[in-house]
Amino acid sequence: MAVTASQQERDVLYTLISRRRSVRQFTDAPIDEQALIRILTCAQGVDSSDGKRGAPSAHALYPLGLTVLVRRVQGVEVGNYLFEPERNGLERLAHAPVSGSLLSASLADDLWLETAPVVIVITADYALALRHFSDQQPDGLRGARYVDVETGAVAQNLYLAAQVENLGGVLVMGIDDEALARQLTLPAAHKPVALFCLGQGQV
Ligand SMILES: Cc1cc2nc3c(=O)[nH]c(=O)nc-3n(C[C@H](O)[C@H](O)[C@H](O)COP(=O)(O)O)c2cc1C
Repeated sequence: MAVTASQQERDVLYTLISRRRSVRQFTDAPIDEQALIRILTCAQGVDSSDGKRGAPSAHALYPLGLTVLVRRVQGVEVGNYLFEPERNGLERLAHAPVSGSLLSASLADDLWLETAPVVIVITADYALALRHFSDQQPDGLRGARYVDVETGAVAQNLYLAAQVENLGGVLVMGIDDEALARQLTLPAAHKPVALFCLGQGQV
């Protein structure tokens, strides 16, 4: 479906992109719940009647998911939540992992994994993607490449949506996937791919 952008919309988008930078230091300020939902919706929410989402997906398969660690969000209990794309809402799954456990899975002592008010875990059902695209390459690994590319699109949406909510964040992929998975309650068949630390940036 073609859309026509106004000059103002072009200016806003180009300015946002040129100002996008990673933020790793956060204030203690809690995040507004509705702002968080809007950000998650940009990343993975269903936003049209045909079931499609703001981030592209090969064959519209949507093998990605978002697990959300809430530490400081106004009106939301601390915990490990699942983002439900169909209703753009959060479902509480478990307690948040104990303090220090995300850092222990970091390959680079990324302290912001512990200090961010929210950590969004981008997960993938790799088996689903590998199965679905097994005929596209002789090695049968095409689905894994698509998962990585789709994760990049989700991450950029997270960066840009955080900015318009006057928040900031950083994509973190220097993690021991298995160590991280042990700390989290993830949807069945999903493995962690990347993390996005989100909060109000310290100036
Ligand atoms: C695939 C990928 C993995 C990244 N992993 C990490 C990471 O593990 N820890 C971290 O602090 N930043 C990570 N970053 C953020 C980069 O360090 C950052 O984007 C880069 O320094 C450029 O800075 P900018 O985002 O402010 O433009 C990652 C970025 C990408 C695209």
